[in-house]
Amino acid sequence: MTHPEKESPAGSAPVKRVYIETYGCQMNVYDSDRMRDVLAPLGYARADAPDEADLVVLNTCHIREKATEKVYSELGRLRAHKDRRAETGQATTIVVAGCVAQAEGEEIMRRAPVVDFVVGPQAYHKLPELIARTARATGDRIDATFEPEEKFDALPAPRAEGPTAFLSVQEGCDKFCTFCVVPYTRGAEYSRPVDQIVAEAKALAAQGVRELTLLGQNVNAYHGKDGGGAETSLARLLRLLARIEGVERLRYTTSHPVEMTEELIALHGDEPKLMPYLHLPVQSGSSRVLKAMNRKHTAEEYLAIVEKLRAARPDLALSTDFIVGFPGETEKDFEDTLALVRAVGFASAFSFKYSRRPGTPASGMHGQVEEDVKTDRLARLQSLLSCQQRGFNDRQIGQTLPVLVAERGRKPGQVLGKSPYLQSVHFEGDAGLIGQIVPVRIIDASQNSLTGAA
Ligand code: 5AD
Ligand code: SF4
Repeated sequence: MTHPEKESPAGSAPVKRVYIETYGCQMNVYDSDRMRDVLAPLGYARADAPDEADLVVLNTCHIREKATEKVYSELGRLRAHKDRRAETGQATTIVVAGCVAQAEGEEIMRRAPVVDFVVGPQAYHKLPELIARTARATGDRIDATFEPEEKFDALPAPRAEGPTAFLSVQEGCDKFCTFCVVPYTRGAEYSRPVDQIVAEAKALAAQGVRELTLLGQNVNAYHGKDGGGAETSLARLLRLLARIEGVERLRYTTSHPVEMTEELIALHGDEPKLMPYLHLPVQSGSSRVLKAMNRKHTAEEYLAIVEKLRAARPDLALSTDFIVGFPGETEKDFEDTLALVRAVGFASAFSFKYSRRPGTPASGMHGQVEEDVKTDRLARLQSLLSCQQRGFNDRQIGQTLPVLVAERGRKPGQVLGKSPYLQSVHFEGDAGLIGQIVPVRIIDASQNSLTGAA
């Protein structure tokens, strides 16, 4: 692969390079792209590895303890790398961004002197200023403000990389599930104004983007203002985006069950550009546990929503998140989770052992579950979910699916795209197909992908 952006135009300043390591959710993937957009005018080209970078950013995740630990071990490796570069007179700026920066900024600065500064998720537009301050070795080294509005106003227009793109429409969360750090790290719910989102979508479509995935921690709680100041639902926003020329596919993530309005459910049946795939976290199949989690819905209510969604769009592929071993979870509660999985039939799912997060209500609850019990439950749940995913993939064999071709495949002569159900599809094809939606007959399936023939 060539990197045209690495070439320094004759006579211009030498190109500096930035390496961004992204952990966690799709919101962080979007944020990392936006950080690159902010840094591009400063002359920062993309580096493929930390040892060729003048600036290394770790865009971190705080959702589970393991994710946080990874940051500190990576910082250990980066210290050696910074020292090595220093021996040859090259300076390296090391930045911690994302939710760990927001939650543990001061601790990071204390524990890891290798870090030049930390920047929270709402302050990425200030990166140029923070880098300049570091160069002068003055000023504050922590920026963990909560001002999403200011950030979105200040960020430059996005640069598309291929035919699919994320578009952040909402940030933060007011739901306060008792296990979750997001309301503390990402702050209160904020919806971007409709016009700003439509403008960003048009800019992306003009650069060849065919599929938009709207992002938000609580995306279906979206209620941004339109040009006339009226509150707009996610369903209405999706309908507006569906009218943009060039936008062929729409998705949104992550949703909360209590915000699945009748209007949004109906849209799954009415709007052909809205893809038949929905990530709708349930967390547990036990209504007792859901109550302790402060999820604001029962298992029965979740099943009723699924039924309505499938009435609107019978082929809808459902994905979800589970936590096993939440404080007080009994074997009977866990069996209720397995029963819910059997009742729904998921196309894909993410499942985690409960991780005690400092400052969240559940971390202080009685009845913390033993590690080996969590491990056992997770294995049983994942074996059932894997079977369902494999079954869902197998059922596509023999069908012809419209595949949006996104990139070259790993093998020469192959391309890789996505089915409407968000499955990866590999098939023999020319790279000229990238950006097109082509009918592909599915001839084989595996746990994580499909193989087809165009
Ligand atoms: N422990 C384990 N999993 C968690 N999640 C959020 N907080 C925790 C925690 N403390 C999971 C939830 C959420 C997903 C993004 O991460 O399932 O939906
Ligand atoms: Fe966390 Fe619950 Fe908000 Fe999702 S809805 S981000 S799990 S607090």
